[in-house]
Amino acid sequence: MWMAVDVEEQLRKLWLLLIMQIGMSKPRAASIDGKLSAEFAVPSHVDAVKELMSAFAERHGAAGRRVVLITSGGTKVPLESRTVRFLDNFSSGRRGASSAEYFLDCGYAVIFLHRHRSLYPYARLYAGVNLLDGLRLGGSGGCTDQEVVVDQEALPKIGRVLRRYQEVKRDGLLLPVEFSTLSEYLHLLKASAQVLGTLGSKAMFYLAAAVSDFYIPASDMPEHKIQSSNGPLQISMKMVPKILSPLVKDWAPQAFVISFKLETDTSILLDKARKALDTYRHQAVVANVLDTRRGYVVVVTPDTQAELILTDEDASKEVEIEEKIVSNLTGAHA
Ligand code: PMT
Repeated sequence: MWMAVDVEEQLRKLWLLLIMQIGMSKPRAASIDGKLSAEFAVPSHVDAVKELMSAFAERHGAAGRRVVLITSGGTKVPLESRTVRFLDNFSSGRRGASSAEYFLDCGYAVIFLHRHRSLYPYARLYAGVNLLDGLRLGGSGGCTDQEVVVDQEALPKIGRVLRRYQEVKRDGLLLPVEFSTLSEYLHLLKASAQVLGTLGSKAMFYLAAAVSDFYIPASDMPEHKIQSSNGPLQISMKMVPKILSPLVKDWAPQAFVISFKLETDTSILLDKARKALDTYRHQAVVANVLDTRRGYVVVVTPDTQAELILTDEDASKEVEIEEKIVSNLTGAHA
């Protein structure tokens, strides 16, 4: 009798140990995946977009081309189900849009996962111009509306930019995908990672989007517009799962992954970048400070640290910091 109880107890302990080990083999990734489906609404078009990305990756992979997924712009976190108000992360999308152009110049095919209406490759060069101020009616005396003439002063280098844009379009080298909300971003990034995972080390992730760390789960969200007549607003937000973790471990383990680290306090920037590398075990972090991000970044890898600086001479030749970032990273990827 005593022996029987003891064996039973030992078996129970063994069973518990086994369950713990199975659970410990991939705890974060499994729970993040579960959380994604349970707490972030899946966009209705995600399967259709995944198919497009699959065909894109297959075509360029077969042609021996490297493929980079660029994320760009800020995510939007709704405060109400029928959304009137939302929290936004700061990002104009300029980093992502200009980097896309330099990756294309380096021979990459680009999936451009960007915030709706944030800056777009090539078009970004004229983002500050009112298009109508750059055009005038042509013909004799400007009296016909059948002919429109471009004012090259208002739209500088438009011919060269248009030519490059049309080449990229003709060769199908740029696949734009839009997101607005955090949920859309997370699900579309997951889909793209699963697709690009099939390309192995030919794939690169360049995660320049500014992604919210906080969200309100659908179950806690009021349906209707929050009423100011109820007094001051107190919101409790949950932590967004770090998508880098399953991306690196499960979805695209062979890919070259670059995350970005944005801080406003320079003194903590590099420590945070190194901590990210330690935690996620990816290839590089591009560290930047909000106020100086256009002229100074540090590319941190597990063994190196490269400062990239835009000099006055660079600026006078219209060199952009993104050209230096992309040159550094494509060199490392190769
Ligand atoms: O668009 P611009 O105006 O040109 O500005 C460019 C930029 C400053 C936005 C860009 O250079 C930049 O730094 N982007 C990252 C900003 C950011 O949100 O950092 P973070 O500390 O929140 O996230 C760090 C990394 O973790 C990011 O690469 C992000 O993709 C990733 N992340 C974030 C949240 C989350 N839930 N999962 C993630 O994997």
